[in-house]
Amino acid sequence: MGFATDAIHVGQEPDPSTGAVVAPIYQTSTYVQQEFGKYTAGYDYARTNHPNRKALERCVAQLEGGQSAYVFSSGMAGIDAVFRLLRPGDHVVVSEAVYGGVYRLATQLLVQFGLEFSFVNTSSQDQLAAALRPSTKMIYLETPTNPTMILSDIAATAALANARGVTLVVDNTFLSPYLQNPLALGAHIVVHSMTKYLNGHSDATGGAVVLTRPADAEKIYFIQRSAGSGLAPMDCFLVSRGIKTLAVRMIQHSVNGMAVAKHLDAHPKIKKVFYPGLPSHPQHELARKQQKGPGAMLSFELGSAEAARALLNNVKLCSLAESLGGVETLISHPASMTHASIPAEIRQNIGITDGLVRLSVGIEDVADIIADLDQALMYI
Ligand SMILES: Cc1ncc(COP(=O)(O)O)c(C=O)c1O
Repeated sequence: MGFATDAIHVGQEPDPSTGAVVAPIYQTSTYVQQEFGKYTAGYDYARTNHPNRKALERCVAQLEGGQSAYVFSSGMAGIDAVFRLLRPGDHVVVSEAVYGGVYRLATQLLVQFGLEFSFVNTSSQDQLAAALRPSTKMIYLETPTNPTMILSDIAATAALANARGVTLVVDNTFLSPYLQNPLALGAHIVVHSMTKYLNGHSDATGGAVVLTRPADAEKIYFIQRSAGSGLAPMDCFLVSRGIKTLAVRMIQHSVNGMAVAKHLDAHPKIKKVFYPGLPSHPQHELARKQQKGPGAMLSFELGSAEAARALLNNVKLCSLAESLGGVETLISHPASMTHASIPAEIRQNIGITDGLVRLSVGIEDVADIIADLDQALMYI
C-alpha cells in the first residue's frame, strides 16, 4: 500500500470486540489473568506493553521501512535508549549542531557512565572519517540540523559506517518519513521526536526508535520495559490519530515552507535564510537527492539579539514557543531557548548566533503567515 494508506490503516484495524473503527484507548495499568499464568491477549502490565503502544509501533515501523519500532515518553527518552545500546568506553560521533537536549544528555549525563562523544561537522565526509576512532561504535546524524539546516549525506555516511562496522543512527524529526527515509539510504536506526511532525498537533510528547536489526530491537525493548520509558495509552492514541494525516500535512508544510522561505529571502531586513529548498542553500542538490521535499523548517539571520527580540515580541499569528512540527506556525530563538544548554562559544562556532531565528512553518493560509512576519519585521 502507499504511504498515506499505511499511515491511516497500519495498526488501526477496527476493534474486534465492538467493531469500533477507531480502536479504544486502553486506559488501564494492568490486565487480568484468565487463569493462573494465562493472559487474554498477551498483555500483563502497561509499562511492559499495551494495545495503543503496539498499534503505534507497527505504524511507525511501516512508515519508516523498519523491521520494528518502539515508542517512548519523549524523543529524548528514545534517544537515551539508543545510546544505552553502548558500553562504557564506546565512542560516538555526533553532528555538531545537534538538538541542544541531545548535547546536554551526552555531555552532562552519559559521559558519567563512560561513553565518549565527539561533536563534528558531519556534512564533511573528511571530518567525519577523521573523527572515527577504534572505539567508535556509533555515528549519530541530525539532518537537517536544528536550527542551522545543514545536511549530512546519509548514503555516504552509511557506506563509511558499514565499512567500519559502526552503527548509523539518524534523527529524522525535521522531515518525517514522508520526506526522508534514512533506512532506505543505509542507516541502521532512525529516531524521532514524535512530539513534532508525526503527531503534528502540539498536544502530546513522544519519541520513536525504528530498527532494522533484531538484536538491536531486542535490546531496545528490554530498555523500554526495564526503564519504564514507553509511551502511555492516551499519548499513543493522540500520536496515532495525528499520523493519519501526516502525508497531507507534509505536502502543505512543504508548500508553505517554500513560500515563506522565498519571501524572507527577498526581504531587506533579513541577512540570510537557511532553507534546503532554496537554490542558494549550499547543499540544495543533496537535499534534492536525499529528501522528497524541502519541509517547513527554516532559520534566518537578523544580525543581532535586539533585532531578534523585536521580531519575536511583535509576531501575532506565529507563536513564540519551543517545539516545531505542529499545524500552527511556531517561532523561536534557538540561542536562548532550544539550544541554551550548548555553551555560548560553541554556539557561535556552529552558527547558532544571537540573531538567528527559527521558524516552524505551519499549515495556516500562507498569506497570513507572511503578513504576520512582515508586520513584525517593521519593528526592527
Ligand atoms: C531534532 C530533535 N530531536 C529530538 C528532540 C527531542 O524530542 P522531545 O522534545 O520529544 O524529547 C527534539 C526536540 O525539540 C528535536 O528538535
